[in-house]
Amino acid sequence: MTTPVWDPHQYLRHSGHRSRPIEDLIARVPELPNEDAPRIADLGCGPGGPSVALATRWPAGHITGYDNSPAMLHEARAYAGRTSAGGSLDFSHGDLATWRPAPGERFDLLFSNAALHWVLPAAGQGRVLPAEGKGRVTSAEGKGRVLPAEGEGRVSPVEEHTDASDAAAEGRAPGFEALFPAWIDALPPGGVLAFQVPGNFTSPSHTLLLELRNSSRWRDRLGSESRSLSVLDPVGYMAELAPLGCEVDAWESTYAHLLHGENPVLDWVEGTALRPVLTLLADDPAAQEEFVAEYGELLREAYPPLNGDVSQGTVFPFRRIFVVATKDGAAS
Ligand SMILES: C[S@@+](CC[C@H](N)C(=O)[O-])C[C@H]1O[C@@H](n2cnc3c(N)ncnc32)[C@H](O)[C@@H]1O
Repeated sequence: MTTPVWDPHQYLRHSGHRSRPIEDLIARVPELPNEDAPRIADLGCGPGGPSVALATRWPAGHITGYDNSPAMLHEARAYAGRTSAGGSLDFSHGDLATWRPAPGERFDLLFSNAALHWVLPAAGQGRVLPAEGKGRVTSAEGKGRVLPAEGEGRVSPVEEHTDASDAAAEGRAPGFEALFPAWIDALPPGGVLAFQVPGNFTSPSHTLLLELRNSSRWRDRLGSESRSLSVLDPVGYMAELAPLGCEVDAWESTYAHLLHGENPVLDWVEGTALRPVLTLLADDPAAQEEFVAEYGELLREAYPPLNGDVSQGTVFPFRRIFVVATKDGAAS
């Protein structure tokens, strides 16, 4: 998968809508082992929004945001410092594919919002693919085809006959769930892993992007993705985390984001899903513009204004998957 160059300012253009799932996820995190002043990692902190929200719930907490984007970290560092309740916020460069708590460091909460689906652990790390029957929603990148909507919640046709050796042979990496064993192992009893990832890889915003990337006009220029962005459904994450000794609360929500502006879904994805393409075409602004214009037209058709009236806004339905896993063994 292309490592995208992030633009925090573009990303923050929809910060109101993007903060909803952060609040909904934090609301479900139970009391932590060191509730008064917990140690918290915000994994893939971006421009710092989740870290600030975590500091609002745990004002005396010690929160470190980790990210591998210099631009995002630069933005986040505006929030670094002590809190009035004696807590602290700081930000650090880290690649989640290899991130672990330092020896002797104990986190009460590992938190991640809208970041883990970008992370592909190194090949050979942890488990490779979900056991049969667990749902995987995938963008099928590199397969040159798009999964039907009914592929959601089940093992997709793409994955059906796949095992670890197939994945290795195809050069695909395990999903980020391969990171769970080490992360859960590092938590104290009662410690929590809480994350949210998009579950919208079969939505037009993503399928149209993939089709355009794979069209004859762009395929050679952009190359095919050799690894797939994919997420499990809530039951899939339960099945991964329960055997690691966790009590798992998992659910999904579809937000009907009402966006305003001329082509607001394009404006949204320019901060996220389109980043890899913009990065690949960064040295050719004319090609960038051409791709964005083509994709923008497709999005305009797929997401018409509410009631055909642009003044009422445009609905962007966005499915998200939430998981709160509490490690067993908390003192009661
Ligand atoms: C969509 S943004 C979400 C930012 C933030 N969590 C939020 O909710 O506002 C995804 C973030 O994940 C970060 N990210 C992606 N892959 C990463 C990796 N391997 N290691 C660290 N951060 C990563 C990106 O740099 C980006 O800041």
